Amino acid sequence: MSTALVTGASRGIGRAIAERLAERYEIIAVARAAKALEEVARHIEKSGGRCRTIVLDVSDHAAVAKALASLEVDVLVNNAGVGIIKPLVELGVDEWRQQMSVNLDGMFYVTRALLPGMIARGSGHIVNIGSLAGRNPFVGGACYSATKHAVIGFSESLMLEVRDAGVRVTVIMPGSVDTEFGGHTAGGASWKLTPGDVAEGVWYAINQPERALVSRVEMRPARVARG
Ligand SMILES: NC(=O)c1ccc[n+]([C@@H]2O[C@H](COP(=O)([O-])OP(=O)(O)OC[C@H]3O[C@@H](n4cnc5c(N)ncnc54)[C@H](OP(=O)(O)O)[C@@H]3O)[C@@H](O)[C@H]2O)c1
Repeated sequence: MSTALVTGASRGIGRAIAERLAERYEIIAVARAAKALEEVARHIEKSGGRCRTIVLDVSDHAAVAKALASLEVDVLVNNAGVGIIKPLVELGVDEWRQQMSVNLDGMFYVTRALLPGMIARGSGHIVNIGSLAGRNPFVGGACYSATKHAVIGFSESLMLEVRDAGVRVTVIMPGSVDTEFGGHTAGGASWKLTPGDVAEGVWYAINQPERALVSRVEMRPARVARG
């Protein structure tokens, strides 16, 4: 059975991606919250899938290198992310660093650990969860939007670098998704995309004909009437 590793799989979009991909892949679910990961694994196995968990802070380079060293992964979804949305003059250095280190460093550390195996095997797909904030600036998003702009630059440069080695890279850019992201309460906004909608975008990207590479997917709510 092919394997898919999903970071930030303990809740929200990452959990939905793990559950969707479990229909075809053995899942390796990665996040810091051990109990929540166990619950995801239980849910997947109850539905007939297979799931292992790795409790890991993706911003800890040594821990990532150690935990992922011996893994062979067919699909990697770099989804773990943090958004602290506030005016720049109120953003603490620790809040800046946390967003940079999870959204960017973590994506690099996990990719760096798993990409050599994909290249050696001549196959693999890396899906990075960016955001429309990586294209559209917004008030309060100077740091978060900068990280997501960087996710696009990273993804598309890497896509060009490794496609001839048989490895595909896709960046998925959702608009607003109904999760706990940025301190929101999930379930409160019916106009938003659902985590399951984003999981469908991932499924679409990784299920293309052999000769076709979907490198960028933008997703937004079909209607934004918020009344
Ligand atoms: N929600 C939106 O509107 C939206 C829109 C566009 C893009 N996105 C992107 O979608 C991705 C997922 O967001 P979400 O909405 O699902 O948010 P969420 O509900 O807050 O989930 C974030 C996930 O990231 C994990 N995570 C955070 N820091 C981590 C770390 N240091 N190491 C490992 N895992 C870590 C969390 O797990 P633990 O806390 O257990 O570690 C959690 O599973 C992010 O990259 C976000 O930027 C979200």
